[in-house]
Amino acid sequence: MKALVLSGGSGTRLRPFSYSMPKQLIPIANKPVLQHVLENIKDLGITEVGIIVGDRGPQIQSVLGDGADLGVRITYIPQDLPRGLAQCVSLARPFLGDDDFVMYLGDNMLPEGVERIAEQFRAERPAAQVVVHKVSDPRAFGVAELDENGRVERLVEKPQHPRSDLALIGVYFFTPAIHEAVDAIEPSPRGELEITDAIQWLVSHGAEVKASEYDGYWKDTGRVEDVLECNRKLLDDVSSSNAGEVDAASTLVGQVVVEPGARVINSRIEGPAIIGAGTVVRNSHIGPHTSIGRDCELTDTHIEYSIALDGATVSQVRGLRSSLIGRSASVGPADHNTHHHRLVVGDHTRVEVAA
Ligand code: TTP
Repeated sequence: MKALVLSGGSGTRLRPFSYSMPKQLIPIANKPVLQHVLENIKDLGITEVGIIVGDRGPQIQSVLGDGADLGVRITYIPQDLPRGLAQCVSLARPFLGDDDFVMYLGDNMLPEGVERIAEQFRAERPAAQVVVHKVSDPRAFGVAELDENGRVERLVEKPQHPRSDLALIGVYFFTPAIHEAVDAIEPSPRGELEITDAIQWLVSHGAEVKASEYDGYWKDTGRVEDVLECNRKLLDDVSSSNAGEVDAASTLVGQVVVEPGARVINSRIEGPAIIGAGTVVRNSHIGPHTSIGRDCELTDTHIEYSIALDGATVSQVRGLRSSLIGRSASVGPADHNTHHHRLVVGDHTRVEVAA
């Protein structure tokens, strides 16, 4: 079995980050989402991985390379524009050949893994096996209506009156039967080749399509709120380690990771939290539920429930919360003696100032 990971897309919901980096490289617990995804795939015993990439492909390639560090072999498959999940299957046809495969959205996190579902698929080999998850408001999702044996009777995109609370989430298992379906469907009104249409085509043509419920933690990391919440969840499982320097005036409380070369000076780190390699934290209070990337500088700052990406600098800001701070971004006091705030923020940036 092979894997097809979708890491193109436009990432409009994750602007401004997605202007400069593919959203699949956003770090969760200081590791790119895509790396979590590939580790999950490796756990299924799959080593042949095709990754669909858009115009930010070179960044993904420079982080993951040929996959050897993760124990997989990666083939990069370029997509010129996001033309839909089913178009990704079609583009990947030469890579997939006539093998069964798992299709995994590169921005979806299922930390508990899908081994059980993969085993079921391998044993029964239905034409398609979708992974579903109970959600409180199915109206925002593709929804699967099942019969009593877990066979899919109908898939409905964003139903106004859902007849089931089982949403399709970002993992699908397919036999090569999907290729005929992908070739047969037309673009949807939004101009994309939809995977739900291809799966519905299989159902309508009498193929067996099954659904398996994943009842672990699931998050589509498409928005900043989701990224922070997923980071909180993953940090809850980290164990303390200290490969950096923590001075005698500092305290670490709870599960705290201090990566190599990081320095903590006269500060309080409240776990769960990660201080990235080479970062310097001085006179600050970090955490809980906070990940600080590599080579950051935090001075006279209190930050919690947040993520700072590599190279960020934050100084003299107390009371930062629910924040995602970009690579090499700088947040701090005005240079001169002034009562004004000064903002230099990029397109589609969101700044919320306490009243
Ligand atoms: P989405 O999150 O649905 O789409 P998007 O990336 O365009 O995001 P937004 O809605 O914020 O604009 O895509 C799910 C995953 O599939 C994501 O990892 C991107 C990837 N994808 C492709 O690789 N090619 C495509 O044509 C599409 C539509 C998505």
